[in-house]
Amino acid sequence: RKGKTPEEVVKKYLQKVKSPPEEDCTICMEPLGGPSGYKGPGVGPMSRAESVGRLAQCGHQYHFQCLVAMYNNGNKDGSLQCPTCKTIYGVKTGNQPAGKMEYHVIPHSLPGHPDCKTIRIIYNIPPGLQVLHTSCVHTHMEDVEYMGPEHPNPGKPFTARGFPRHCYLPDSEKGRKVLRLLLIAWDRRLIFSVGTSSTTGESDTVIWNEVHHKTEFGSNLTGHGFPDPGHLDNVLEELRAQGITEEDGLME
Ligand code: APR
Ligand code: ZN
Repeated sequence: RKGKTPEEVVKKYLQKVKSPPEEDCTICMEPLGGPSGYKGPGVGPMSRAESVGRLAQCGHQYHFQCLVAMYNNGNKDGSLQCPTCKTIYGVKTGNQPAGKMEYHVIPHSLPGHPDCKTIRIIYNIPPGLQVLHTSCVHTHMEDVEYMGPEHPNPGKPFTARGFPRHCYLPDSEKGRKVLRLLLIAWDRRLIFSVGTSSTTGESDTVIWNEVHHKTEFGSNLTGHGFPDPGHLDNVLEELRAQGITEEDGLME
């Protein structure tokens, strides 16, 4: 598949700005009325008319070249996140390694959820090799295929501890909604990441990403158990921060 260049991706989410406001670009801290403070390779001269863009949904304005630089520093998955308000443009994906997500209902109740059964999610990820970085050089002669996210140490192996990891949700209406959204997060590779575990200090290992899971069933010795009345709302908020909302849950 042919990829879009970083410039094309960024342009897709922008509206034109006729006269830039007398404000600084919060990416480079230089005035929006002047050139981008970003001077990297591949940043050429630009006509003034297209040097500033407004993100279509949230309205925040930046130098076009600052947005391109920010996109190039990320995982280049075709999505863009406003650095001011975190609005996500496109579909954000992560760098979770290959593996399996399964779930089933078990006939027991969780502390704090006496009236329903329990959903058990089982994640399994084997150890593997971190994905090699593919450089993304755009020439005017050919389209470049943009590889997915890059792991911290491409070419090096990663470990995977504590798998299969078992997680629990109440089998209530809200718990099932969270499950639907977690399945989407899994497909978008956002549940786990590769990095340094804050629990064990081990580097180059599979770690939980930004969405909290409950891994304890009948007790709460780790703080990752029940009861926790705010848990489902917290998870819905964390999923929203990854760009996964209830509307996604209805569509897929
Ligand atoms: N259960 C659920 N979430 C946890 C746990 C746990 N036992 N320990 C940490 N977390 C949360 C943290 O609160 C943090 O938000 O995961 C996030 C990342 O923490 P790390 O310690 O970096 O993650 P990781 O090394 O993947 O997990 C540590 O979680 O499921 C267990 O077997 C796993 O013992 C390992 C522990
Ligand atoms: Zn700027």
